[in-house]
Amino acid sequence: MSAAGSEWDFTSISSDRAPVSIDTTVAHPARMYDYYLGGKDNFAADRAAAEAAMAAAPGMELTARANRAFLGRAVRFLAESGIKQIIDIGTGIPTAGNTHQVAQEIDPEIRVVYIDNDPMVLIHARALMETQSQGSTTVIQADLREPEAILAHPQVTSLIDFSRPVALNLVAILHFIKDEENPGEIMKTLKAALPKGSHLVISHCTLDFTAPEIGAALREIYNKATAPLIPRTHAEVLEFFDGFELVEPGLVLPPLWHPDHIVTQQEAENSHFYAGVGVLR
Ligand SMILES: C[S@@+](CC[C@H](N)C(=O)[O-])C[C@H]1O[C@@H](n2cnc3c(N)ncnc32)[C@H](O)[C@@H]1O
Repeated sequence: MSAAGSEWDFTSISSDRAPVSIDTTVAHPARMYDYYLGGKDNFAADRAAAEAAMAAAPGMELTARANRAFLGRAVRFLAESGIKQIIDIGTGIPTAGNTHQVAQEIDPEIRVVYIDNDPMVLIHARALMETQSQGSTTVIQADLREPEAILAHPQVTSLIDFSRPVALNLVAILHFIKDEENPGEIMKTLKAALPKGSHLVISHCTLDFTAPEIGAALREIYNKATAPLIPRTHAEVLEFFDGFELVEPGLVLPPLWHPDHIVTQQEAENSHFYAGVGVLR
C-alpha cells in the first residue's frame, strides 16, 4: 500500500530485471476488463471507469465474459487441430481459463508465448508461470504496435519455430490500435512470419449493434483511459483475416462461435464483439 491516489506501488518490483512503474490513477483497459470479469486485480480508477462503462452500456460484463469464453473455445479448437505453438498478444491479467492452461490440458507439449504491454499483466502472468513451472510457456513485455520487435524477441525466437504452424491470438486487443497506428500493416508483418497451417484468432469490439449515444459514451470513457477504444465494423474486422480462410461459422458474435451451450437472446444481444478463427492454407 502506498501513495495517495494509488493502492499499491509496484515501482520496486522487478520483472525482466527492470523496475516497473504502474500509474494506478489512470484507468487501464486490462484492469477494467479484469473488473468486468469479476477479478480483484484492479484499482479505484479502473473500477470507476468500468462502472461508468457498465452504466453507459448495460451488459458490458456479459460482453467481456462472452469474449473470454470464446477465447477458451478457440484455444481448445487450436489444440484439437494439432497446433503446437501459440503467440498470444494482449494476454490480459490472468484469470480463469488462461490460454496455456486450456491448451496444455489438451496437449501438454503446446508452447505459449504471452505478450502484453501492461507491466501489471506481466507481474501476475510471471507469478502464475512460476507457480506452475511451465517451461513451455513464457511471458514477455512488448507492444503490438512494434511487430518486428515481437518477431525478433529472443524469447519468441527461442520458443517458436516459424517453420511450423503457429497460432496467433489477438483476442480483444486490436480495438486498442488506432487507424493511424496502421493495424493493417501490423497484421501484414505478423502474418508474413507465419507458415501454412497457421491459425489466426481474433475478437474485436464493434458498435454495429449499439445505439450511437452508447457508443459515444464508451469512446469517451476509454479516451480517458490509457488506451482509446476503436470499435470496427464487420467488414473492417474481416480485413484483418486477409489471406486466411475463416473456419465455420466465420466472423460472428462470440457466443455463436462453436457454442458449447444454447445461446440465450440476452447473451447474443449483449455481445458487442466479433470473433473468428482463420487458417492459412
Ligand atoms: C481486454 S484485455 C484481453 C485479454 C485476453 N486476450 C482476453 O481476451 O481475455 C486486452 C489486453 O491487451 C493489452 N494491450 C492493449 N494494447 C496493447 C498493445 N499495444 N500491445 C500489447 N498489449 C496491449 C492490454 O494490456 C490488455 O491486457
